[in-house]
Amino acid sequence: TITVDSGAAGAAIGDEMYGVFFEDINYAADGGLYAELVRNRSFEFNATDNRSYTGLTGWTATGAAATVDDDARLNERNRTYLRLTGPGGVTNAGYNSGIAVSRGAAYDFSVWARSDSASALTISLATADGTALATPLKINVKSNTWSRYAGTLRATSTSDTGRLSVSVTGSGTHRLDMVSLIPRDTYKGHGLRKDLAEKVAALRPGFVRFPGGCLVNTGSHYAYDQASNFPRARSYQWKDTVGPVETRATNANFWGYNQSYGLGYYEYFQFSEDIGAAPLPVVPALVTGCGQNRATDDPALLQRHIQDTLDLIEFANGPVTTTWGKLRAQMGHPKPFGLTMVAVGNEENLPDEYFANFLKFRDAIKAKYPAITVISNSGPDDMGVTFDNLWAKNRAAGTEMVDEHYYNSPNWFLQNNERYDSYDRSGPKVFLGEYASQDAKFFNSLAEAAYMTGLERNADVVKMASYAPLFANIDNVQWRPDLIWFDNDESWGSTSYQMQKLFMTNVGDRVVPTKVSGGRVVQPQPITGRVGLSTWRTAARYDDLKVTTPDGAVLLSDDFNDGNADGWSPLTGRGTWAVTDGAYTQTDVAAEDTMVAAATNITATDYDITVKATK
Ligand code: AHR
Repeated sequence: TITVDSGAAGAAIGDEMYGVFFEDINYAADGGLYAELVRNRSFEFNATDNRSYTGLTGWTATGAAATVDDDARLNERNRTYLRLTGPGGVTNAGYNSGIAVSRGAAYDFSVWARSDSASALTISLATADGTALATPLKINVKSNTWSRYAGTLRATSTSDTGRLSVSVTGSGTHRLDMVSLIPRDTYKGHGLRKDLAEKVAALRPGFVRFPGGCLVNTGSHYAYDQASNFPRARSYQWKDTVGPVETRATNANFWGYNQSYGLGYYEYFQFSEDIGAAPLPVVPALVTGCGQNRATDDPALLQRHIQDTLDLIEFANGPVTTTWGKLRAQMGHPKPFGLTMVAVGNEENLPDEYFANFLKFRDAIKAKYPAITVISNSGPDDMGVTFDNLWAKNRAAGTEMVDEHYYNSPNWFLQNNERYDSYDRSGPKVFLGEYASQDAKFFNSLAEAAYMTGLERNADVVKMASYAPLFANIDNVQWRPDLIWFDNDESWGSTSYQMQKLFMTNVGDRVVPTKVSGGRVVQPQPITGRVGLSTWRTAARYDDLKVTTPDGAVLLSDDFNDGNADGWSPLTGRGTWAVTDGAYTQTDVAAEDTMVAAATNITATDYDITVKATK
């Protein structure tokens, strides 16, 4: 029985209650939300990004074509270019099955080029088997200094296996860089793939958290290598991602591929504005989480990152007379973006080092921009356990908001609906920056829906929540489940997408207090309990695993002292497991970990799984 107290005033639910978290994981940016159709347009792919890469990844060449990094380069941050000695050419295969084009649609081609001969470049678009998809374009390269050349290709038929070729018939040496093809029709004309952006917009998100996730706070934090002035494999830093695209140095991505930064901070702010969402950038805290336990010991470097964060706020909000406000205006947005919050760090493993840095960021931000909300976090994905060390520090320091992350089983979400009922009403507010129910397909979405009623009921404490991850390119899946799936010309939402949409497009103004009495209806399920300290640890030890009924009866228990994992078994393919020294030990942790209670007679949802994990 549900009793509704319609006369009582419950907590207000803010416009920012539900949002999205965009991270460039699963190839979500290049070949995804960023509408560029040419893969490796700047010939910067490099074995540092991914061992399989070369400067010509994505391309095939005929004749004498080679990638070169020498003094003739386009600029210091876009170092490698293509040297094409005619006659010959190169062909780009785009992403997934190829370049997708629609009959009648216009595609904007551009290239930076220089040449010591008068022979023209021919730009053509054809299917993988050579059927023309557009009337070719001729471009005369006028001199042997770098200039940008542009033209339009109009598709004469529809295909999802397009190839873009650039060729020369005459002799001479041609140098090419930033070979680009972008559909004219992008979301609000701002360079993002329309169907994907529309699917995000249809959720009516209250905020967009970006750009990560683990993407943000890993990699080398160090300044450019002085010898090359090149930022390869360093952490994500917003200044690398703004300004003209040909000056944005590409970088290795935490998730193992090249990121062009064509989708950079300006584009994130613009997209947030276009969909009516508040931007929420995450900046590195100079402590590496997600599998690495390093913190900078260089105060000057820390100070530079703090200054970068102040500059970021100026880039978003500052008048056009300021250094960074001026850059924003030059990029096309004189009006401020209205940034109101910044998150510092993501899932760091070192609580003391992280928190010391967090306080320095917060002090500097508050001193200059007191109205900006500075969001801290609760450490690694703790599967809902909530490590007390960071929460305690946050509470003691009067943190405004704490970012929690957990990915767990559907049963966990059902069993933890009341998680926030007991949170301190006068403590930090909660930003649930990443969560998803994993393992049971459609049942996930129902478990998430049930859980979200608990978030809303606690809207006085839980101020914002975003499912994660947002996107997955079906040919490059690194993490699942995901909200929106796509290939090169189609996209579709998961059942969780439909469920999020239902909640996000029907946000109430206020909680109406209710009381539930009577029995719960539960669907029998095998007990699956996720255990572990975090995704990224290299070894974890588990002991005292127990399954108990709500009234405390122990159904399954094991302290592993007998050397056996009685009744517990790990899912296969996830690291190496062994019972040693009275604990169940897992090494080579490569993914989220699940242990399954093997006892077949335990089949209900309302049992607790108690786990003690040590490291
Ligand atoms: O959402 C995928 C990853 O999960 C994020 O990068 C990280 O923050 C979390 O561990």
